[in-house]
Amino acid sequence: MSTINEQLDSLKTEALSSLNNIINKEELMMWRTKYTGRSSALSSILKNLKDVPQEKRKEIGLLVNDIKKNLELLFKDKDASFDNKIANEIDRNIDISLPGLPVRNGSLHPITIALNKTLKVLSQLGFSSIEGPEAETSHYNFDSLRIPDDHPARDMWDTFWLDSSFNNEELLLRTHTSPMQIRFLEENDPPIRIAVPGKCYRYESTDATHEWMMHQVEILAIDKNVSIANLKATLQSFAYEMFGSDAKIMLRNSYFPFVEPGVEMAVFFRGEWLEVMGAGMVHPDIISAAGYDPNVYSGFAAGMGIERIAMLLWDIDDIRYFYQNDLRFLKKFKN
Ligand code: DAH
Repeated sequence: MSTINEQLDSLKTEALSSLNNIINKEELMMWRTKYTGRSSALSSILKNLKDVPQEKRKEIGLLVNDIKKNLELLFKDKDASFDNKIANEIDRNIDISLPGLPVRNGSLHPITIALNKTLKVLSQLGFSSIEGPEAETSHYNFDSLRIPDDHPARDMWDTFWLDSSFNNEELLLRTHTSPMQIRFLEENDPPIRIAVPGKCYRYESTDATHEWMMHQVEILAIDKNVSIANLKATLQSFAYEMFGSDAKIMLRNSYFPFVEPGVEMAVFFRGEWLEVMGAGMVHPDIISAAGYDPNVYSGFAAGMGIERIAMLLWDIDDIRYFYQNDLRFLKKFKN
């Protein structure tokens, strides 16, 4: 067991080294209480002096008092040095009573907010979210969706090609989220009800309603006895939930190679119809390519543009605002 002298020595070393690490007055007060206060180790040695052998009692008593006095002096010095520091700052014309600079909270990007809202409404309609690759093969992006090489519809989906390839197939940046219809069908059996959010890319010049990068959410529902009435009801419920029950919406016929019949949904916005999604009944060829009898299984699909939805949600007249990183614009959206 260590002698009482050794204990006092190590106590002193500990007190001195922890004093060195102190950076403000509060810490200093705590240090003082810990090492010289009424319940400090030093005080308790003094209180129990009677347990020390008679011949050492006086020596230890003096030693403890000496250490205590020393620590008190060090306390006063350090305390004064903090006071000086503040005085110096006042001397240097730093007004320490001025409020600090506000720390700005970040917030979600409007497209993230619109995407989250879209997925939430879709989940209420029974669609679960799943993501797919942004770098796609032309097999999934085009051919498996019935868009062959020489099909004029490919012009609509001109895109960026990558230098890298996958399994000897050239890769491109997907032009839509529709390829996940095929990927999901390869791995899963009906009933299917999925929503696929993600970025898509097109080689095109930008204008008020077009960007070369945008977000889409694809939906796919496949089961027995799915009809176009189900498609219409789903799209209507979605639109009213997103834009309010007074929103003016229109479904009109359209063409997409992977659906038959195809439609597009437009919402009335600033005196015009703004197309927000393409949709249709999944083409029977796609259902049989997935290994199901198109006389038994049917389904619908849709692909919606999130930037367009965000424009409608907040009455924004130009899609290009979203990616200019102008804080004056971005700050207006609170999650
Ligand atoms: N993929 C189409 C596009 O980007 C949108 C689309 C149209 C998706 C019809 C669909 C659909 O699922 O059925 O232009």
